[in-house]
Amino acid sequence: INIYQNVYPNVAPEIEEFLDNIDIEFIKEDIPKTLSSMKIGTQRIREIVLTLRNFSRLDEADMKPVNIHQGIESTLLILQSRLQAKPGKPAIEIIKNYSELPNVECYAGQLNQVFMNILNNAIDALERSNHETTAEEIKSDCSAIAIRTQLVNPDLVAIFIRDNGVGMSDSVIQKIFDPFFTTKPVGQGTGLGLSITYQIVVDKHHGTIECISAPGQGAEFIIQIPCRQKR
Ligand SMILES: Nc1ncnc2c1ncn2[C@@H]1O[C@H](COP(=O)(O)OP(=O)(O)OP(=O)(O)O)[C@@H](O)[C@H]1O
Ligand SMILES: [Mg+2]
Repeated sequence: INIYQNVYPNVAPEIEEFLDNIDIEFIKEDIPKTLSSMKIGTQRIREIVLTLRNFSRLDEADMKPVNIHQGIESTLLILQSRLQAKPGKPAIEIIKNYSELPNVECYAGQLNQVFMNILNNAIDALERSNHETTAEEIKSDCSAIAIRTQLVNPDLVAIFIRDNGVGMSDSVIQKIFDPFFTTKPVGQGTGLGLSITYQIVVDKHHGTIECISAPGQGAEFIIQIPCRQKR
């Protein structure tokens, strides 16, 4: 368009009027900016799709040795937006304490689902706890999730996920792995997260999962998984 306008500076009034109507000067400035936003947008979509593919590991349906820490990291990446500070909500700090672990033979996508369910619950518990405290208290006792891994013995890894949220009473702890048990408002929780988690850890991977918690004391989930599955 620039070349054209240089070569033919005098255009017919009909064309002149049309160019005025569509505000050609603005379009000339705006289009490069729009294109560059689109480029950034598609780049961002590409990253999101890649992250989701990494998380679900759909291309690896079979049981195989995987790096547990990579699974935790890819889950945290997906949960990033829930961990960031928002107006009226403080950021949630993730404290990692990873040990040297061998690869663990598992269904990688399913195990990531376990991390996702437990971390989502921890975030819910922290949000509820912030709801019940004043801004001053939030500052002194900041929301945090601690993730620790440990090689219990050469054939057993343990993953500890602890939050300092609202915690649970004994009567709630007894029911958390039951299908459809939820304390969340209708429409917010289906109560399936932990029952699916239990199935994946105990039935599919022959591991164990337990929960330690008390009201106001946060909650800790301990998952233990054998490094090799017996055939
Ligand atoms: N970290 C936690 N702190 C406090 N309470 C928890 C925690 N994790 C689980 N709970 C309790 O266990 C209940 C069951 O959890 P579960 O993940 O199975 O279902 P849900 O989170 O309610 O719904 P969803 O199906 O969406 O996960 C929760 O409603 C909550 O009361
Ligand atoms: Mg849940």
